[in-house]
Amino acid sequence: MDRSTGHLTKDGIRLHDAADFDGMMVAGELAATILDRIAEHVVPGQSTAELDRLIETWVTEAGATSATIGYRGYQHASCISVNHVVCHGIPGPKTLKDGDILNIDVTVIVDGWFGDTSRMYVAGKLPRKAERLIEVTHDALMKGIEAVKPGATFGDIGYAIQSYVEAQRMSVVRDFCGHGLGRVFHAPPNVLHYGRPKTGPVLEEGMFFTIEPMVNLGRPETKVLADDWTAVTRDKSLSAQFEHSVGVTADGVQIFTLSPAGRFHPTYG
Ligand code: MF3
Ligand code: CO
Ligand code: CO
Repeated sequence: MDRSTGHLTKDGIRLHDAADFDGMMVAGELAATILDRIAEHVVPGQSTAELDRLIETWVTEAGATSATIGYRGYQHASCISVNHVVCHGIPGPKTLKDGDILNIDVTVIVDGWFGDTSRMYVAGKLPRKAERLIEVTHDALMKGIEAVKPGATFGDIGYAIQSYVEAQRMSVVRDFCGHGLGRVFHAPPNVLHYGRPKTGPVLEEGMFFTIEPMVNLGRPETKVLADDWTAVTRDKSLSAQFEHSVGVTADGVQIFTLSPAGRFHPTYG
């Protein structure tokens, strides 16, 4: 089998080699380290603009580049999505209140490789219903990742996530998906967080992509605000998201964006 960096599958998905996995590990570790470091700054009274400023500083200090600054006109080093914001929340002067939950999503470029990861945080005390949402969303991501191995399909990943979330009487957002990545930010395939077993492209060793389910306490529908970025739940229900960048190995999966501090899992309070 041709496993060179240049090889694309019939679905247009690039297959990467061992050196490429090393590049992704470095980029993924930096993104995850930044998410570790930001945790202590997520407190009531803090503005999301200040959180973004810290993140941008740390990206620069590491000698890396933010993938989001300048991406389709986006001007920040992170997306910060509070409460009913589903994704692509724009950092700004608004301050966090006690009990707010938020996703912070960071993508860095190191030596040309993209590391993309997000996780949930809470300002102050975590409300009970938000705790369940966050736990279910985290576990949904991990169930999706557990489905990753050569010969499985992208539909298997989506099914693992959707069937788990819906059994918890929560809903999976359809309007945004994960994506292939590597030396580019967004590449084929679209990684849907819902689906049927044995459908979609077949996973092969060397594929790199994100899994980044968004889960709502209410209905799945979203709308994008007039700023053209901020996506919110139409019914104003709370939303959560976790994201890892992963690679398909010979016998399973490698997670590029594991937390070096072991802080990815929402073990709050
Ligand atoms: N990091 C996001 C993702 O998971 C993309 C953010 S694009 C931005 O794909 F421009 F909104 F930052
Ligand atoms: Co992503
Ligand atoms: Co992301």
